[in-house]
Amino acid sequence: MSRIPLRPEPAGHEFVDLKTPPDWDAVFGATGPLELEIGCGAGGFALGHAKRFPQIRLVAFEWRKKFAREVAFRAIKNGVPNLKVIEADARTEIPRIFIPGSLSAIHVQFPDPWWKRAHFKRAVVQPEFARFLFTLLKPGGRFDMRTDVEDRARQMLAILEGAGFVNPLGPGVFHPYDPEEVPSTRERRYLASGEPVYRARLNRP
Ligand SMILES: C[S@@+](CC[C@H](N)C(=O)[O-])C[C@H]1O[C@@H](n2cnc3c(N)ncnc32)[C@H](O)[C@@H]1O
Repeated sequence: MSRIPLRPEPAGHEFVDLKTPPDWDAVFGATGPLELEIGCGAGGFALGHAKRFPQIRLVAFEWRKKFAREVAFRAIKNGVPNLKVIEADARTEIPRIFIPGSLSAIHVQFPDPWWKRAHFKRAVVQPEFARFLFTLLKPGGRFDMRTDVEDRARQMLAILEGAGFVNPLGPGVFHPYDPEEVPSTRERRYLASGEPVYRARLNRP
């Protein structure tokens, strides 16, 4: 995707800076489980998951314009109407557009590890935001976390469990690879190379 030019049309601008959450039934022209992806990157998961499960409605955030616009473009080109991409900071916009208990799943895959201590405040999975994300899930809703960075995986798992998410496999236990799940763009690389990926599937009880 690095060689693809920036598309001129902003992705999902109509969902940024809203005063009240949109009517997602009207936005998608359909009902169905509402899911959220934070940081979809080049969109391998977002496009594949929405295509494989046409009954869901997936809202994907990506703050890098080039990626967000390209994924939004491909969703239209490839006939994936149940995916909306928003180019914005997920942390500021999510509280504006989802009401508590409205999400069936939240996907955070290979989030930037932000190695420098001073940059950790940019991380998506942090205690306060994790507690907020917990409130957005329906009871029985699932949090899908994947990363290749073991240290960050353990840290995120501890934060999520501390926020109230329940790990059906037991505290601190990672989930095995499930070939039925759609891999993210980055994940495909690790599946090909055999490098480890740390996964968690947590629930809101
Ligand atoms: C390492 S990439 C992984 C992309 C994709 N999930 C994958 O697995 O291929 C992390 C992505 O999250 C995006 N991102 C990080 N923080 C974000 C935020 N607060 N809001 C929106 N996007 C964010 C980055 O721009 C980047 O594209």
